[in-house]
This record gives sequence, structure tokens and C-alpha cells, in this order.
Amino acid sequence: MPGQPTNTRLSEGDFNYESRDVGYTTYRRPDPRIAARIHASLGEARGVLNVGAGAGSYEPTDRYVVAVEPSASMRSKRPRHLSPAVAAFAQSIPFDDGVFDAAMLILTIHQWPDKVAGLREVRRVTRGPIVILTFDWRAADRFWLAEYSPEHVRVESSRFPEIDSLVQWLGGHARVEEVPIPLDCTDGVTEAYYGRPERMLDPAVRAAQSVWGFVEPAAISRFTERLGADLASGAWDRRFGHLRTQPEFHGAMRLVIADR
Ligand SMILES: C[S@@+](CC[C@H](N)C(=O)[O-])C[C@H]1O[C@@H](n2cnc3c(N)ncnc32)[C@H](O)[C@@H]1O
Repeated sequence: MPGQPTNTRLSEGDFNYESRDVGYTTYRRPDPRIAARIHASLGEARGVLNVGAGAGSYEPTDRYVVAVEPSASMRSKRPRHLSPAVAAFAQSIPFDDGVFDAAMLILTIHQWPDKVAGLREVRRVTRGPIVILTFDWRAADRFWLAEYSPEHVRVESSRFPEIDSLVQWLGGHARVEEVPIPLDCTDGVTEAYYGRPERMLDPAVRAAQSVWGFVEPAAISRFTERLGADLASGAWDRRFGHLRTQPEFHGAMRLVIADR
């Protein structure tokens, strides 16, 4: 059927979850404080659509949730206490108009090949708020990683849509909220390690961050060598050591909430 994932075309995002086992369920566990922000943004919604749902991170368990996820590998990682996900793409959601009270799009929209078409579909099937967790790459330079790996910022700025564009695609009205990252954040996005820099030297940690799949191996080596050397010499701590105890970091994570 057109627009539906098949066994030969399992993922349509910019990152292929079929060919890489990324340790997602180990290193990208939903953080309860970020979850609370997302769930509050869903308001009173009872029926929630989760698009690009992956293994179900941040899905509320006290509401009726329908998950849409094109990657068979991701669908297979969903825990048993969550409902199975529907195999579909954001650009072609197999539900009737206005059947959901709210929709959640968690760290997924940057992977959609046609973001405008995807958001149009999400709006078509959703009568209430659309809640998007994303990154504002223009704030990437708040994080020391930008200095250690400028390639990382270049990649993210080409993948993540500008927040202003997102708001326009949502009809011109949306609230944009900064989401602070806790020091012990369990969801291993790059910023989660703002105060735990040694973790970024672990290849398994980086493998669960899709950005590194787009950075040249030579640039990754330069990054690990420089960070490793600065940690060993104390240079990192002299400049950024205060982050080791800073309770939260206001970086690039954003919630974009389009109420109806
Ligand atoms: C970084 S993962 C996030 C998964 C989950 N929302 C989470 O927070 O853990 C991005 C997800 O978007 C999915 N995705 C990629 N392209 C998509 C598309 N066109 N429509 C819907 N989902 C898509 C991927 O398969 C992947 O599961």
C-alpha cells in the first residue's frame, strides 16, 4: 500500500534504525522530569497520538495512546506494557480526521523527509494540542560540545528545523518553552552529559545519539582525542568544571506546543 512501510523499506527517517543497533533502550531512557513537562502540555487529552513513537519513550500510561512508528526495529523494542505501534509514516497517518485529542512528536520531526506534509497530517487527525519536543540548534553554542565538535553543530543545524519554521507550519501560533536538562538526565541526548563529559568518550553512549552517524570518523576521532586530553590535563574542568554540580542546564531542548 502506498505510503506504508514495507519489509524492504522499513524506515524513512534520515537515520536508519534497521541497520544499526543503537542501544537506544539502554542509553535513551525517558527522563521523569522531561516526561512531566510533556504530559502537562498534553492537558486534559484522553486520546493521544504518538508519531515517530520509537520504543515508546515518554508515552503516558494514564491515557489512551496510539503509537505510529515506521521502523520495525523500533516497534520491536516497545515494552509489553505499551500497546503495539501502527506501522506508518507521519506523511500518511491511517486514521480519520480529528479522532485524537492531542498528539505528541518526541525528538522525531528532524528525521521526517517532508515535515510540512507530516505536520499537516498530524493536524488533520488531531483536534487538540500538538506537542513537539525538539532542539533549537541556534542555541547549540551554549553547550561546550559546540567547541569540541563544531561538526556536530553543523550536522544538527542541517537536520533540525528552525523553531520559527515549525511555528509557521503549525499555523503561526504555538508556545515555545525551554526544557532544562537535569544533571542526572536519563535520556542520553548529547546535552544530557553537560556535567558528565567523560561519558561522551564512550562509543556506546555516542551510538545512541544519531548525530554521530552523520559526522566523519576523522572528526569524531579529533573530538574524542581533544576532550580526552583536556579531561586528563584538567583544562576542561578549569573552564567547565562548575557544570559537574550545576543542577540543570538550559541548552537547546524545546517544547513547541500548538493548541487549537
Ligand atoms: C530519535 S527517535 C525518537 C523515538 C521516540 N519518539 C523517543 O523519544 O524515544 C526518532 C523516531 O522517528 C521515527 N521516524 C523517522 N522518520 C519518520 C517518519 N517519516 N514518520 C514517522 N516517524 C518517523 C524513527 O523511526 C524513530 O523511531
